[in-house]
Amino acid sequence: DKGNHRHFMAKEIYEQPEVIPHTFGHYLDLENERVALPELPFDLAGVSHISITACGTALYAGAIAEYWFERFGRVPVNIDIASEFRYRETPLQPDGVTIVISQSGETADTLASLRYAKEQGQKVIAVVNVPTSTIAREADAVLPTLAGVEIGVASTKAFTCQLATLACLAVAVGRAKGHLQDEDERKLVRAMMEVPRLMTEALTLSPEIELLSRTLAKAQDVLYLGRGTNYPLAMEGALKLKEISYIHAEGYAAGELKHGPIALIDEKMPVVVIAPYDRVFEKTVSNMEEVAARGGRIILVTDPKGAELANVPAMQKLILPEMPATVAPLVYSIPVQLIAYHTAVLMGTDVDQPRNLAKSVTVE
Ligand code: M6R
Repeated sequence: DKGNHRHFMAKEIYEQPEVIPHTFGHYLDLENERVALPELPFDLAGVSHISITACGTALYAGAIAEYWFERFGRVPVNIDIASEFRYRETPLQPDGVTIVISQSGETADTLASLRYAKEQGQKVIAVVNVPTSTIAREADAVLPTLAGVEIGVASTKAFTCQLATLACLAVAVGRAKGHLQDEDERKLVRAMMEVPRLMTEALTLSPEIELLSRTLAKAQDVLYLGRGTNYPLAMEGALKLKEISYIHAEGYAAGELKHGPIALIDEKMPVVVIAPYDRVFEKTVSNMEEVAARGGRIILVTDPKGAELANVPAMQKLILPEMPATVAPLVYSIPVQLIAYHTAVLMGTDVDQPRNLAKSVTVE
């Protein structure tokens, strides 16, 4: 049932302010403002190394979490696409944990990676949305994402629920390893509790995004740029646009612009820049200036401070409320999803069942 929505994808985007507190509720002790994971069959304090593997959108959730595991847990992370991970014969550290992420829990390459990691003596944590799935059954520990059934082929709410789950796990690792103080943890938990409200505000950008998608629907290629956790989010934005609108898109680390993709920029090329005001914002502004100087059209997704400080020609801005950096990827996912959604609707594609794609990829 799509409710009042035209597509399951829209319904699932709009469900996020409800499912996210549900997921956080499972992993947080709200009264004491602490992370409270279900008991794991091993001690997080002893984790020396984390490997993350997944496919598609689930991989990008992992790539965002990589920054959190390193920041809060001070644990080295190795992340790879499951179809590479399974054949790479990568040496895995003793005392290492492998995290596999999957909405369906049935993705063939992710499952094969899980089995490889287990053979190598790794403890495997599965972050899955379908608790009865094969990946959930075979893992040593399961952290469910609790997004509810996701029908649209383009993953939306499962992605943000993966982020919510992984953020809690990263805080738990940080605490277990003694790198996070109680007060820092409380601050992070308070920030997590703000996410549903921030998401609801982000959803009000929908009419503005619908207008702006007219520009994107005319484009042949779209570039997405970001730094830090907004870099994997840029890749996620590009994937979402590609899969449902069939417009070619690429996500790049903003700092890589000069190393190749800048050659693509001309007045026909929209560039979506995901850049809240943070410690790398000024760097991203210089990238935007480079794009503008070559006639590229910028759509900047930012906050009030960022909007005030970035002023380059031919720029459109989508302004989100100010928020703590750790939760920004969850909230910035909303405009990223809506950009793809409205563009695809304008293009007249089959949004929920895009051509050539299946919801669950159970063959290699
Ligand atoms: O079920 P999984 O999370 O393992 O699926 C992984 C990818 O196939 C999936 O995320 C795919 O990239 C989506 N269609 C993206 O929207």
